[in-house]
Amino acid sequence: MTVTDDRFQKMQPLAGHVRHLAPRDLPPGPRWPALLQSIALVRFRHQFVPAMHKRYGDVFTVRIMPKGSALVLFTRPEHAKQIFAGDPEVFHAGKGNAILGPIMGEHSLLLQDSAEHKRARKLLMPAFNGAALRGYQSVVARLAAEEVDRWTPGVPFRSLDRMNALTLEVILRVVFGVTDEARLARLRPLVNSTVDISPAVLLGWGYPFLQRFGPWKATVDNQRRLDEVMYAEIAERRAAPDLGERTDVLSQLLRVEGEDGLSDAELRDQLVTLLLAGHETTATALAWSLHELGRHPDLRARARAAAASGDDDFLEAVLKEAMRLHPVIPMVVRHLMRPVTIGGVDLPAGANIGPSILISHARADNHRDPGAFRPERFLDGEVATNTWIPFGGGVRRCIGAGFSLMEGVAVLREVLCRFDVTLPAGATDFPRVRNITSVPRHGARIVVV
Ligand code: HEM
Repeated sequence: MTVTDDRFQKMQPLAGHVRHLAPRDLPPGPRWPALLQSIALVRFRHQFVPAMHKRYGDVFTVRIMPKGSALVLFTRPEHAKQIFAGDPEVFHAGKGNAILGPIMGEHSLLLQDSAEHKRARKLLMPAFNGAALRGYQSVVARLAAEEVDRWTPGVPFRSLDRMNALTLEVILRVVFGVTDEARLARLRPLVNSTVDISPAVLLGWGYPFLQRFGPWKATVDNQRRLDEVMYAEIAERRAAPDLGERTDVLSQLLRVEGEDGLSDAELRDQLVTLLLAGHETTATALAWSLHELGRHPDLRARARAAAASGDDDFLEAVLKEAMRLHPVIPMVVRHLMRPVTIGGVDLPAGANIGPSILISHARADNHRDPGAFRPERFLDGEVATNTWIPFGGGVRRCIGAGFSLMEGVAVLREVLCRFDVTLPAGATDFPRVRNITSVPRHGARIVVV
């Protein structure tokens, strides 16, 4: 059995960790079969979650496959505050993220809890601190300039596709440090297929026998090929004569010595996690930013002036507002190891709970005029703590938050210094569920002039 097969056999989304909880233990929610609720949550979350909020109020329970496990969603900032500040020994995020296990692997930072999480986070952190981020800036700016050079003025295109290509390049070079063109060419389609997992594949992971068929088999096969390339790169890099001088994240991790050093399997899992968590998420936020700027000539003029004068604050506000109005990830999940009370609601051990990013960002009592695209709200101190939570929070807050903002600002600067961004006639867009993430349904089309 290969490493990949083993991983797919071992990981069973949520099912393995969840005691079946009686409905009376938990806040109200729909009584439909778990399969229907899972499909609604995975496929139609932008309609389903707001409808449940309207129907059941600020705290509600949905039931998800494979065993009808409960997921309790919270929607108020004081709930988010309490959840993010919760004791990590009680609020396990790794178990809450178990659905990602078959792809990311058991060592993944996203999948671990307790001492293992603390150790891995400590090892990865230096590669994402302020000094490291400043070091990556010039590579990001160069890759962005090369991408923008290829754009043809006057011809409409899907900005999501171009941003995906660009952020993949950034991750492969800055995180993985791959420069060999042949290996890059092998990696690109494998990573794209890994990200491109359908909701049906996600739901089917609870049933290992499916892995012999159709899209589930294709996922396992793709994963096996990706692993081969990753392990080859890791082996070569371990022996690289210039390992000591290299600035990419893989080389930084390989330089950790002694008992803290990471095994090949651990490195593979952390790298796949960074590749998958960091690539499409940032691309989506950038695509929405460009699309919204295209729709608002006044903001566009201000953003272009900011790019020309080096005023990064306004560009960052544009990105943050795009992440607020169009959340890339809909919720954050924690698995309770002991009973807790949140916002007056008693929750038993074994429940999966979390703040809904979708609702937190859309509540009128959290954000004035929540349907409007207003980057200024991030400049005049209007956004209160725990109302803007695209990166989650607490000890599990996204480790790449600073990276994605640095990358996003660098890319917007490069685009806006070169071009004015407008929309093709009649272009509109709205979110479509991709798998864990939501993306612009029509690819956030733009025209540059
Ligand atoms: C717009 C871009 C991004 C968004 C919206 C996003 C969102 C998130 C969210 C919601 C979480 C869960 C936080 C929690 O449980 O409280 C998370 C965790 C994580 N993200 Fe991101 N992310 C983005 C970019 C990135 C990038 C660029 C990287 C790395 C290169 C990255 C790597 C990770 C990792 C490793 C974790 C797990 C952290 C832990 O459990 O300790 N993300 N992200």
